[in-house]
Amino acid sequence: MRGFNDLSELAPEAVEHLLDTAKRLEKHPEPRALEGKVLALLFLSPSLRTLTSFQAAMLRLGGGSFVASPQGGIHGLESRRGVTMDGVAAEHIREAIPVLASYGDALGIRAFAARESLDDDIEDRDFQAMAELSPVPIINMESAIRHPCQSLADWKTMDDLGLPRAGGKFVLSWANHPRALPLAVPASTLQMAAMRGMEVTVLRPDEFALPEKVMARAHESAASSGGSIRESDDPREALSGATVVYAKAWSSASHYGDDDAQRALKKELTGWCVEESWFDRAAPDCRFMHCLPVRRGVVVSDEVLEGERSVVIHQARNRMWAQMAVLYEILKEAS
Ligand code: CP
Repeated sequence: MRGFNDLSELAPEAVEHLLDTAKRLEKHPEPRALEGKVLALLFLSPSLRTLTSFQAAMLRLGGGSFVASPQGGIHGLESRRGVTMDGVAAEHIREAIPVLASYGDALGIRAFAARESLDDDIEDRDFQAMAELSPVPIINMESAIRHPCQSLADWKTMDDLGLPRAGGKFVLSWANHPRALPLAVPASTLQMAAMRGMEVTVLRPDEFALPEKVMARAHESAASSGGSIRESDDPREALSGATVVYAKAWSSASHYGDDDAQRALKKELTGWCVEESWFDRAAPDCRFMHCLPVRRGVVVSDEVLEGERSVVIHQARNRMWAQMAVLYEILKEAS
């Protein structure tokens, strides 16, 4: 496998192979599989799970990793072409990326959306510009519009729990949040559930409909897998018969990058918080999913988050097994 950027770039058999590898490595450790291999990690945005689960994954496979991040003391990075670098940034990505890549056998990059241009973010232009500078395989650790490692872990989590693929009712619900958050997780989650062949409902207030291009890509995946996609603005109706509720805050596409407008839109939506009463008409064992970090009392109640429905810790643990599979396929194959 030459890098890992988006589940939808893989054939269905390749996704199944990654899931099988993740399950195999979980049951049957291979502590020397990646001996001598080095993973370079560039974190331009914060992380708890992604940072530590990639490091743990490399350790468990016998390899090593190093982390470069602005908080860790690297120079400020410039990404624009043709600018005179007389400001804060002391180094351009056109040098920084090849240098970091030269120390590793693969390079993971996390860079959240700039949220300046919806079109640039949907097309993942900043991330692609960095990826093109690397001579070694690139792993997307969350870009403007993708979080494939989270999606692979979430797919595995649903498989682990025996949640149905065809016919399983998956509700992706917008959630309130004090900040305007990117579209990467909702876009990737929607894509993943569609590829898994589930009956997906995107539950969101009208102002927070996902962008047309994001919906169109997911509809294409649903058409291939036999799944379906619909939208609703009514939690009670959307959750009827649901087997999974996946909550995530995201920005309104109609006021993208305008934080004041985003705040104004959410003034009337502070009650949009997943609570136990939401599950009245859901399947009895309906699960609650979230990628974490999550804001208690804003996105979800403590009762739901700590209750039996919640599988958020299982999801987070699966990040490590899923990424071990990705690393195995990229680096073991290159041995
Ligand atoms: N879910 C996720 O990617 O978590 P972090 O932001 O902590 O890495």
